[in-house]
Amino acid sequence: MEKNEKEKKEMSIEDLPGVGDATAEKLRESGYDDIMTIAVASPKDLAEISGIAEGAAIKIINAARKYADVGNFETGEEILNKRKEIKKLTTGSNNLDNLLGGGLETQSITEFFGEFGSGKTQIMHQLAVNATMPPDKKGFDSDVLIIDTENTFRPERIVQMARAKDLDPDQTLERIHVARAYNSHHQILLAEKAADMAKEYKIKLLIVDSLTSHFRSEYVGRGSLAERQQLLNRHMHDLLKFGTIYNAVIAVTNQVSANPAVFFGDPMNPIGGNIVGHTATFRIYLRKAKAGKRIARLIDSPYLPEGETVITITESGISDGEK
Ligand code: GTP
Ligand code: MG
Repeated sequence: MEKNEKEKKEMSIEDLPGVGDATAEKLRESGYDDIMTIAVASPKDLAEISGIAEGAAIKIINAARKYADVGNFETGEEILNKRKEIKKLTTGSNNLDNLLGGGLETQSITEFFGEFGSGKTQIMHQLAVNATMPPDKKGFDSDVLIIDTENTFRPERIVQMARAKDLDPDQTLERIHVARAYNSHHQILLAEKAADMAKEYKIKLLIVDSLTSHFRSEYVGRGSLAERQQLLNRHMHDLLKFGTIYNAVIAVTNQVSANPAVFFGDPMNPIGGNIVGHTATFRIYLRKAKAGKRIARLIDSPYLPEGETVITITESGISDGEK
């Protein structure tokens, strides 16, 4: 199992001044289970959760900050070193890998958006299989977490794709951990709990399929838009934090809205608008084409040129298709 360098194991939260057993328990229940999480918490949130006064919460946070290495400026060299740890995961299609500069990057969120049947869920299945493959096959030799919000995870598809890559289907399935999210709140909690799984397994890929479907159906109408965007924003940042701490790929899917009156004007706009767009580092727009083919377009990348390419979906999974 890979060691997580960022983890501060030396201190437990009970060691913080003013944190007794009862407070510690309340904090843990709410996911504040290590020094780093408390160090970056807001005093208001911490006070609300643990039932202590805000002044006491500030003291706890300040103490946590002393021990956790947060809020420091990093030199360009340190950032470069961290970027050197970035690994790339193959999509199964050389065309799409090339468009992405080699594959999906760790420490970033990659969003696949497109209409129903455009292949988003198929690509998520393929990424899950690929992540279990060894590095010489452009995988991570890692376990995978999938947050499935639409009940579209199909183990049978994993078996087909694993066979096509000459992998043992049972061993592959054993490394893919799926949690069904029943509503947006549950989805947010599962993303927060992903860190617990990462302490037990080597997780280098976290998938959320779909990122937005629950938010879309639960927060309907203009009045709830601000709240929806705020929650989605927090969720995206939780995901990005996981990707950064564990050097993992985050892959999410997003439908395009068909109803311009409810969403953001352009009928081909992904749900969640700017919030999702600004937090996702890579965005790929998928369109259906003939005979199992899909057109993948890279949008708004920070340093890669925009462009598009063709991928193919078959029983074996995602590939370039026949030349
Ligand atoms: P929504 O979740 O509804 O927004 O769609 P999506 O983008 O997730 O679509 P999904 O990935 O589920 O794509 C479904 C499509 O993939 C099907 O309509 C088929 O065209 C294709 N597909 C899925 N399984 C197979 C397969 O075994 N063989 C082939 N040839 N195509 C498949
Ligand atoms: Mg889907």
